[in-house]
Amino acid sequence: MKLVFATQNAHKVEEARGILGADVEILTPAELGLTEDVEETGTTLEENSLLKANFIRERLGIDCFADDSGLEVDILNGAPGVYSARYGGEAHNFEANIRALLKNISLRLMESGFARQYKTEKVKDTLKARFRTVATLIIGGEVKTFEGVLEGRITFFRAGEGGFGYDPVFVPDEILSPEGALIPNSERLTIAQLGTDVKNQISHRSKALHAMAAYLKTL
Ligand code: IMP
Repeated sequence: MKLVFATQNAHKVEEARGILGADVEILTPAELGLTEDVEETGTTLEENSLLKANFIRERLGIDCFADDSGLEVDILNGAPGVYSARYGGEAHNFEANIRALLKNISLRLMESGFARQYKTEKVKDTLKARFRTVATLIIGGEVKTFEGVLEGRITFFRAGEGGFGYDPVFVPDEILSPEGALIPNSERLTIAQLGTDVKNQISHRSKALHAMAAYLKTL
């Protein structure tokens, strides 16, 4: 089976190839001569993911899938969400995005009076957040949606060099033991401290793609 993955990101393609296995040949739009990007004008991850998949389907007329991800922080009422890539202004400026995130959380903590109770359980709960991925598959003209979520909390103490985006300030609730089982993240490691292998097994994106892989196997 051949599927076009609506992305220009080589790391994502590599990850998807690993998850979907040898039965699925993943092509990129660029390999098929399409270098133009669709504008992500949706107001939800679902909309943007569908927009990207539809664009490929219309331009290339071939089965395809797309994904859209974002970080949702409870105290920010779900922001930055669909705007995660450009939360600090310029798109994909990870440093500016993290600064905007920590600044806005601090402001909300002060406004709500939580700052005085810092480190209490209640405040820790306000820092609850999750990464969410929505993957949209268009196959044989049919549209299917898959979701993956990684629950955790935001930390003000950045740590780690790995990953990208908000990884240095995101502490997942669970990590993997050396035997590969999910265990509580008692050392409060950030994703940037986990290493790519572990991240790729627990991430929102990998969960959405695994759900899609399971569906593809039923066809
Ligand atoms: P995309 O839809 O995968 O391009 O993700 C949009 C934005 O969400 C990225 O530019 C990052 O800011 C953020 N993001 C998505 N996935 C991750 C992740 O795994 N770690 C950190 N940030 C992420």
